[in-house]
Amino acid sequence: QYDATPYLPRRGGLAAYRRAAADCRGCPLFLDASQTVFGEGSPTARLALVGEEPGDREDRQGKPFVGPAGGLLKKALRDAGLGEEPTYFTNAVKHFKFTTAPRGKRRIHKPPSLREMTACRPWLNAELRLVDPEVVVALGSTAGKALLGRSFRVTKDRGALIPLPEEGEEQRDGHGAGRSTTDGRRLVLATLHPSAILRADDAGRADAYAGLVADLRVAAGALH
Ligand code: URA
Ligand code: SF4
Repeated sequence: QYDATPYLPRRGGLAAYRRAAADCRGCPLFLDASQTVFGEGSPTARLALVGEEPGDREDRQGKPFVGPAGGLLKKALRDAGLGEEPTYFTNAVKHFKFTTAPRGKRRIHKPPSLREMTACRPWLNAELRLVDPEVVVALGSTAGKALLGRSFRVTKDRGALIPLPEEGEEQRDGHGAGRSTTDGRRLVLATLHPSAILRADDAGRADAYAGLVADLRVAAGALH
């Protein structure tokens, strides 16, 4: 059974969790990746953004969203009026999963499995409990499934503010009731992953980008 739980510290703040996550062996992804990429940003952010897993650049630098997808995401946040908003960035899975191209050295991203997402979930739960954001933006279907369950589909669920489920099969360590929403629950808004926008063809890219910005504006409007 893959599970990060034995590696979690018993107490402490984000710094303690970050240190402990560096030594996580809760699933096999630590074996090939360079390092754990824990969340970064404002520890008191009202807005958190959750991606899928670190990419090649994030794996090398040890920080989330420092590559091309991160650049596009930060531009979209500025275009949505959130350029000055303190933000916390993290991923559903904290290690880079990849295959190496047959003869090159290029590392090709692979999506995490459900088992890996479930194993890594306690780190994300701890981050959300400690940062206590009001709104969590799920970027793409992996983050959406991690936060909202396996039936989540970006195509049907994107752009809506949905209360974060307390505990479910995908969420063994759910934490509710922070300062968050009127009924004490955090809101999740799912949108496109910035990498999907980078992969879109020229015809689709502008619309996809505008969709991301529009969704981020909805998230901005839900901050109180
Ligand atoms: N894509 C992600 O999902 N997360 C990152 O940190 C970078 C790219
Ligand atoms: Fe631990 Fe998550 Fe890395 Fe797996 S991906 S080893 S659960 S930090």
